[in-house]
Amino acid sequence: MPPLSKPMATAAAVVAATGCYLLYSRNRDDKSKIPKELLRSPHAAELKLAVRLAKKAGNNMKGYIETKGTSEAMNYSLDIETKSGATDFCTKVDVENESMIMAAIQESFPTHEIIGEETVGTGEIPKLKKDAKTWIIDPIDGTTNFSVGIAMTCVSIGFCVDGHPVMGVIYAPASDEWYMGVKGYGSFRNGVRILQQTSSSTKSIEKAVICCEFGYSRKQHEIDAMLGAVSRILARGCRGIRQLGSGCLDLCYVASGRLDVVYSGIVNEGWKPWDYCAGMVICQEAGCIMESIDQATPGGFDLYSKSILCGVSRQLVDECRVVLTKK
Ligand code: IPD
Ligand code: CA
Ligand code: CA
Repeated sequence: MPPLSKPMATAAAVVAATGCYLLYSRNRDDKSKIPKELLRSPHAAELKLAVRLAKKAGNNMKGYIETKGTSEAMNYSLDIETKSGATDFCTKVDVENESMIMAAIQESFPTHEIIGEETVGTGEIPKLKKDAKTWIIDPIDGTTNFSVGIAMTCVSIGFCVDGHPVMGVIYAPASDEWYMGVKGYGSFRNGVRILQQTSSSTKSIEKAVICCEFGYSRKQHEIDAMLGAVSRILARGCRGIRQLGSGCLDLCYVASGRLDVVYSGIVNEGWKPWDYCAGMVICQEAGCIMESIDQATPGGFDLYSKSILCGVSRQLVDECRVVLTKK
């Protein structure tokens, strides 16, 4: 047998001394490695490209996040531009990420359609064509977090076939976390399969950590409605309520059981297809329920829905719906 390399020999010695085999059985440095189960799917080529592009876009965000608030931040400028209003803006990194991702997709798959948040801008969002392959891109989700250097921000790349999301990659560069999912093949975090949420023990609000997003609504009557919903959820005795600022990561957190529910869209603060697409595959493959707030739609979530209610169990989602829609 050839001699072990130094790191392997050290690892082997630790395993022998402690029995901690699991700690050393996986190369945790390569969190972007695509699980072999997903490579067997019919969307492996698109998945490989999505991972490569998410990594490049994520790396483009790291320097700014890591230096924010220090003297080294002087090396970065974000060139912020507002979109639908003062609270809704994009940075030059959003635009750079989207142009880079779109150009690479066009080069590899010239017949595919692409819907990108910054390209659509404040215009009408194109509808998914039934007989097409369509990529849906959020070049930075959680731009507000990104702009102030908060780690809850990511790149989200989703892929749809015949009008349905089938593959999703979400990369959070600040925490170096990778989420990948392919319809029918499961979802994974950092290369490890995410457990099915159908076995989640969180079946009531009393036991749940619930996340909501306030989005960009700043009209008083809308604020009152959103806070009214939060108040009703708190009054039901939930364990905690969170507002994390990245819809795509909220979905990943529900998929992997860090959150029990995420909702948004009480009034006009609902999300767009690029906030849902990749996360939808990751959530559904983890057995989560993903519907709109106003109605149960077992088996199908509409990417153009104005609201979302996504949770780890049917009982919990139904209870939240009753509380959230109460007048
Ligand atoms: C936003 C975030 C936020 C959600 C907004 C989204 P962006 O995405 O996901 O959490 O509440 O509705 O627009 O603008 O940072 O990509
Ligand atoms: Ca977004
Ligand atoms: Ca965005």
